[in-house]
Amino acid sequence: MTQIDPEKLKQLSFSVWNFKQGEMVANMIHLGDRLGLYRSMDGAGPMTAAELADRTGLKERWLLEWLRGQAAARLVDSSDGEIFELSAEGATVLSDEASLSFAAGAFSSPMHPETLDKLAEAFKTGVGLSYEDLGPNAAHRTERMLGPWTRQALVPDLIPRLDGVKEKLSKGALVADVGCGGGIAVATMATAFPDSTFHGYDPSSHAISRCNDKVSEGGLKNLETFVAGGEDLPQEPTYDFVITFDCIHDMTHPAEVISAIRRALKPDGTWLIKDIRSSGNFQKNMKNPMLAMFYGFSVSACMSSALSKPDGAGLGTLGFPPEVAESMTRAGGFSRFTLHDIDDPSNLYYEVRP
Ligand SMILES: C[S@@+](CC[C@H](N)C(=O)[O-])C[C@H]1O[C@@H](n2cnc3c(N)ncnc32)[C@H](O)[C@@H]1O
Repeated sequence: MTQIDPEKLKQLSFSVWNFKQGEMVANMIHLGDRLGLYRSMDGAGPMTAAELADRTGLKERWLLEWLRGQAAARLVDSSDGEIFELSAEGATVLSDEASLSFAAGAFSSPMHPETLDKLAEAFKTGVGLSYEDLGPNAAHRTERMLGPWTRQALVPDLIPRLDGVKEKLSKGALVADVGCGGGIAVATMATAFPDSTFHGYDPSSHAISRCNDKVSEGGLKNLETFVAGGEDLPQEPTYDFVITFDCIHDMTHPAEVISAIRRALKPDGTWLIKDIRSSGNFQKNMKNPMLAMFYGFSVSACMSSALSKPDGAGLGTLGFPPEVAESMTRAGGFSRFTLHDIDDPSNLYYEVRP
């Protein structure tokens, strides 16, 4: 008979309940973000639940329970459960959307029970849900989660590292963002380089609708969008610069899209890929303390999208590490591959050229 190790049992039980606690706290972070509680506490110093109620117009008793939970989770400071303060660090992570460390956006839409039902079904059929199937909330959450880094770092830090790209964009180039999602990257570039023309492609109508909002809000005359996948790029050399951010691993047919990008890129063009930092070796990846979260994203979004057609490749969140990226891009007709490992804990950047 199998012997139970009581110490391992205790630790495993604790881990499992700790994930349940994570789910509960995640829901509370969602409410704090959605109701503007972190923003109301940001820079306001120590306060009681009554004071937070005055600032927000919300009910004191509900806020007190929420604040005590936030203190228990060590997200808000409190020594007595009566006076609470959002520290400067807490505000950076939970309130300040312009900060590189802002994380509350990742909690903006918890998974809908119907989506979980569909995922359970996908385990039986093998066919997952595309970003279109996941609806507008998924596009919104992706944008709020990935947006801060893109807004802050793409133009000042990343583009200048690429051979000749900044100069081309300043003079006037034609650029495609393939899998543009809500369009933060393409809108940021369109604003920074008004003499260039930008095309945003995404098969999700929800994502393109968010991108279109940015076009009208920013009056961006140099940005056009298409509800279309990378497979639908022009057949002839058209673009000086192509980006694919966090999306090759989501595609059902990444090899076809890679070939399509090769055809659509001018001979002296550049393709910039951003993809999840992964070594391609599970044991090495286990050093990443957030690995379980990435597998969660994979089953619920990335691999699911990449298997949303019966013959999908199913790469998934961690499925496009440098060696896979290099061999797939070479197979697609590219000859130059440069890895940029910059100060981004979650992603790697590949500069690929014909
Ligand atoms: C994780 S989101 C990234 C969005 C955006 N690039 C960003 O960084 O915020 C992945 C996107 O890839 C898109 N996608 C999936 N299959 C695609 C394909 N075949 N061609 C282009 N985009 C695709 C999805 O619709 C989704 O919007």
